[in-house]
Amino acid sequence: MAKYLITGGAGFIGANFVHLLSNETDHEVTVLDALTYAGNKASIEGLLGNRIKLVHGDIRDHGLVHELVEDHDTVVHFAAESHNDNSLESPDSFVTTNVVGTFNLLDAATKSSKRYHHISTDEVYGDLELDDPQRFTETTPYNPSSPYSSTKASSDLLVKAWVRSFGLQATITNCSNNYGPYQHIEKFIPRQITNVLLGIRPKLYGSGENVRDWIHVEDHNRAVLKVIEEGQIGETYLIGADGEKNNLEVTKLILQLMGKSEDDFDFVKDRAGHDLRYAIDSTKLRTELGWVPKYTSFESGLEQTIDWYTQNPGWWQPLKAQVEARYASQGHV
Ligand code: NAD
Ligand code: DAU
Repeated sequence: MAKYLITGGAGFIGANFVHLLSNETDHEVTVLDALTYAGNKASIEGLLGNRIKLVHGDIRDHGLVHELVEDHDTVVHFAAESHNDNSLESPDSFVTTNVVGTFNLLDAATKSSKRYHHISTDEVYGDLELDDPQRFTETTPYNPSSPYSSTKASSDLLVKAWVRSFGLQATITNCSNNYGPYQHIEKFIPRQITNVLLGIRPKLYGSGENVRDWIHVEDHNRAVLKVIEEGQIGETYLIGADGEKNNLEVTKLILQLMGKSEDDFDFVKDRAGHDLRYAIDSTKLRTELGWVPKYTSFESGLEQTIDWYTQNPGWWQPLKAQVEARYASQGHV
């Protein structure tokens, strides 16, 4: 049994990770989460008790971070400001949380000699042309485009420097776009599912040709656990499930699976600096650590996700008006 500190464990991927640890390990878990607009205690409420605890606090709080890290064996750092559209409107908290917050964790993990795992994104590599035969690998140069991805890239570079300069026992994973239960409805897939459930037409940015490499959140989290348990210290592993689809295809599939006409959507104003395509080559993770995704059919994973949002209106409905008002103010309606 180990003691895990999970930052951002009330957010989408972190909450799913806490469910995985609760169901499949006997680790003691402390979630450190600031419960920003993106965090939801309800996502882990049923798990809280003697073995799984929630500390409502901020990774920018240096003293609190040092105190908590000291008391755990392993830190898994999910907490971040994670939404590109928000980063274009108000980048400040992206810099303080994603960069300064990460520094606090690295400093604390180094000083108390703890194992640290850093959760990052494929967006640090920038974007690819639609016909580029080369996907992202661990050696692709960093080239981030947005305030969000540049702060994630900065935090990755801090981790690499702390490994080399201070001997921090760390690993990094960079994953592609996740989907599944408990994802905030500002994000593409849950925004469109909840739109359809409320009789609102899905909203597609630009021409809909942008490609994302979709992976189910459970596959991402199983890969993270594998890297923590079996990965080489100092190494980076890319996580992806060969799930490339353009946004138009995803929108049409959602409409079809929800019994609507495939053309029942609107094209809206594009995102500034919108990355065209992400695609991951996860050969290293598969060959070195033997990871394989369980969700090999995007359609059936999406069907389960639609079912989850249909069955859990109480989780998302209170957020909807505010999310759509923000999109309206940004012109994405
Ligand atoms: P999310 O926005 O759903 O959740 C982020 C969580 O962090 C929330 O619970 C929020 O309350 C918490 N948080 C934010 N600022 C904080 C602070 N200062 N102190 C403490 N807690 C704070 O994000 P997500 O989609 O679950 O992403 C989790 C991580 O995975 C992020 O690091 C993100 O960059 C990375 N990632 C996400 C994806 C994806 O598709 N969503 C893909 C690859 C990597
Ligand atoms: O690649 C991993 C990244 O995936 C993570 O690092 C980020 O945290 C996560 O938010 C996600 O970033 P994206 O910007 O790719 O995700 P988002 O859900 O915002 O958008 C996915 C695509 O859908 C993107 O091309 C923009 C488009 N889009 C988005 C919204 C919200 C639309 O066409 N319509 C929409 O309403």
